[in-house]
Amino acid sequence: MPAKPRVLITRAVFEEVLDRLRVVFDVVTNAADEPWSHATLIERLQGCDAVFVTTGERIDAALLDACPQLRAVCSMAVGYNNIDLPACTARGVLVSNAPDVLTETTADLGFALMMAAARRLSESERWLRRGEWNRWAVDQFCGQDVHGATLGVLGMGRIGQAIARRGALGFGMEVIYLNRSRLAPELEVPLGARWVSKLELLRESDHLVLVLPYTPANHHQIGAAELAQMKPTATLTNVARGGIVDDAALVTALHSGVIAAAGLDVYEGEPALHPGLLELPNVVLTPHIGSASRPTRLAMAQLAADNLIAALAGGKPPTALNPEVLGDTP
Ligand code: GLV
Repeated sequence: MPAKPRVLITRAVFEEVLDRLRVVFDVVTNAADEPWSHATLIERLQGCDAVFVTTGERIDAALLDACPQLRAVCSMAVGYNNIDLPACTARGVLVSNAPDVLTETTADLGFALMMAAARRLSESERWLRRGEWNRWAVDQFCGQDVHGATLGVLGMGRIGQAIARRGALGFGMEVIYLNRSRLAPELEVPLGARWVSKLELLRESDHLVLVLPYTPANHHQIGAAELAQMKPTATLTNVARGGIVDDAALVTALHSGVIAAAGLDVYEGEPALHPGLLELPNVVLTPHIGSASRPTRLAMAQLAADNLIAALAGGKPPTALNPEVLGDTP
């Protein structure tokens, strides 16, 4: 009997996913669930036909050259800025991500962070927990309204649209957005969404939410100059990727009242946080949990497993990013 293909699963994942994979593959796991260095990842990948990754593992040309046996890279994340897609394609390595299954869960978190920042939830809870609540006051923790406010969405893909739906249909928000291309009328009209320039987006948003992919062109899309254009009452929420916001500039802006508050799920250099962020009262911080409901994380891992199984069987992975490797058009 021919040996089963060998696959490396870089982080701990659900047993039911591993059980499926073990039927068809020789599965190598990371039992300790410790994030590996790049060098350790290369070492563990020796002799592996495919790798199942998350957001943290860097798959670059050096790694691909050091692992010539690798045929597929299957990520359980939707964002794939950690994977050098052209380098994979050039070497005939199939790449897949895990879109769609996390859209609504991530939109829920984005909306929750935006609301928490606007209504000062973390700040007031910390104050209450410190035992400082001894009387009601008319201006206590007055924040910003969400209902009826202008929601700005930078990056109107699937998750951006899901956040816009929540705002327009659930909270009567006016939606403005910026995206590489304008949405089709059948998507724009039901939301009353307006495609605007970056300057209009910055100036008009009461609550600006970032949901765009991280690419070199999107590095520091929001820095000191952009923050300076925003309303002093505005909030900024990032559920996309660290690096889209210049965290140093954001700390300064939040400290000096350039904007009112922020909600962040992602950070430059995470899990390390930019100095000063933890001390700020007006920022709500979560540890990259946008897609973190159990059903959604399981669906993401199962989709990565579907891709892995299809890729090593010589088929087309359901959510391949470079199907041209198979001689297909993307
Ligand atoms: C999470 O950040 C993802 O890209 O899936």
